[in-house]
Amino acid sequence: MKVKTLLELITIEMKKAFKEAGYEETYAKVSLSNRPDLCEYQCNGAMAAAKAYKKAPIMIANDVVARLQESDCFEVAEAVMPGFINLKINLSFVSQFLNTMSKDEKLGVEKEAEPKTIVVDYGGPNVAKPLHVGHLRSAIIGESVKRIARYKGNKVIGDIHLGDWGYQMGLIITELKKRQPELPYFDDDFTGEYPEEAPFTIGELEEIYPTASAYAKEHDDYREEALQATFLLQNGRPGHRAIWKHIMNISVADLKKNYKNLNVDFDLWKGEADAQKYIPDMVEMLKEKGFAHLDDGALVVDVQEETDKKEVPPCMILKSDGAALYDTTDLATLVEREELYNPDEVIYVVDKRQELHFVQVFRCAKKTGIVKEETGLKFLGFGTMNGKDGKPFKTREGGVMRLENLIREINEEMYKKIMENRTVAEEEAKRTAQMVGLAAIKYGDLSNQASKDYIFDVDRFTSFEGNTGPYILYTIVRIKSILNKYVENGGNIDALTIQDASSEYEKALMLETAKFNDVINSVYQETAPHKLCAYIYDLANAFNKFYHETKILAEENEARKAGYIALLKLTKEVLETCIDLLGFEAPERM
Ligand code: ARG
Repeated sequence: MKVKTLLELITIEMKKAFKEAGYEETYAKVSLSNRPDLCEYQCNGAMAAAKAYKKAPIMIANDVVARLQESDCFEVAEAVMPGFINLKINLSFVSQFLNTMSKDEKLGVEKEAEPKTIVVDYGGPNVAKPLHVGHLRSAIIGESVKRIARYKGNKVIGDIHLGDWGYQMGLIITELKKRQPELPYFDDDFTGEYPEEAPFTIGELEEIYPTASAYAKEHDDYREEALQATFLLQNGRPGHRAIWKHIMNISVADLKKNYKNLNVDFDLWKGEADAQKYIPDMVEMLKEKGFAHLDDGALVVDVQEETDKKEVPPCMILKSDGAALYDTTDLATLVEREELYNPDEVIYVVDKRQELHFVQVFRCAKKTGIVKEETGLKFLGFGTMNGKDGKPFKTREGGVMRLENLIREINEEMYKKIMENRTVAEEEAKRTAQMVGLAAIKYGDLSNQASKDYIFDVDRFTSFEGNTGPYILYTIVRIKSILNKYVENGGNIDALTIQDASSEYEKALMLETAKFNDVINSVYQETAPHKLCAYIYDLANAFNKFYHETKILAEENEARKAGYIALLKLTKEVLETCIDLLGFEAPERM
């Protein structure tokens, strides 16, 4: 079903009026009013047209307004000095719009006319290193970006892009050899099958890595050995490869569990290791076509551009010892993605401190034809999550906060609050605390513009009041409970019709609900989940005002009551769709 947005419908009306009054319809730009106390929408086109027509703006505004008096769309259209047009939407125009919207499966959101194939590269955990809060942002933002693009009808592929090929693997192998030198993996003469069972558990693995990492910093010979082990792994020594597989199996199982708890779901569990096989041909191509040259023994591609104000160093392809680097892997991953998925766009959700790396990679990929000229390469860099002291988030003891611990802390806080409310039994409270806790974390993160640093404030994020995830969920739960009571009292909530608003609070809620498809379009175009948070906060506020000012279930006029219920049902659907796009969900009670 083709549903226009409210803004589109209003703009059509305005264009008609401008044209009929003898003015170019391009001036008929409508926007949300910045004086919501006076009107809901406004048009400043007469101001812009004044110059072209050498007329006072108010005269143009008067001409246009005169043509709008017949329109079904507006209850009030008035010209005010010096030439603004204030618009109040007609009540039945809004209710009709909402009734159309509620019949549409996607609540009025149109699919992209030409759906794209989009790869979202997010998560990016490093295998065998514990997940920490830095990885949390990528997972949360990336998941939302993926869901929003998908809702707009694109083919979206989420790829975790594991860091599974680096020095940390060499460290683990070295430490393992030190502890258990008798294992067959280290025996050069071993020809049999390696054991299926890994020689370590996830718990041990998590202990091995930091131990080895710290030891290597103090002991040069150990570090040399770890570098050598990394080299041997990358060059395919069977024993090293076999240990790598064990590390992968165990870590990936653990990561899957962790991401599942976060309601984050990847289509692809690929990583840096998968890109390696594309490197030799890529390097060959870069040399053959003359893009790459030697610089101090290293193979590089220049990416500096004339307009650059700062130096952009060359893209590093191979170190002088022939080893591949971070740049190489990301370029080879693009080769792989081109070959396997042929994407129109690749979006990277990574810490903004890596921006330069991506500038280099993107330029190199475009310049050398690794991706097509028209392929969109987008870096969505996010800021740092800080503690209340304004410094990167740490544990109370000052160590790096592990993701699991952070989540546990939030869930415990939520559990306490939910038990205080005493609306649910202990078992349910545990599950509810997890749901609400996740909303607290995700909303706390997503409500900030991604590129900005933000302060992770447990007290504020877990509050049931204010601009928080729990407040949004509380609002949804409140609506659910009203709808349930309506049904319990014998009402039927299917096939109800939204009526014309009977109060300013109801109208405000209706107008807010009606913005949904407009909002989704701009959130998608701007890759800006924080705007979706801002919208649901406004919508939740509009509902709560209406709720406090209106007797809903006690309304005696049955038709009017049914109209309220229909509006609440749609509001709930909009809120639930939005939080699903943000990557969390609401419980039945809380
Ligand atoms: N593993 C990297 C890190 O922890 C992030 C990977 C980002 N994605 C990419 N394609 N480079 O810093």
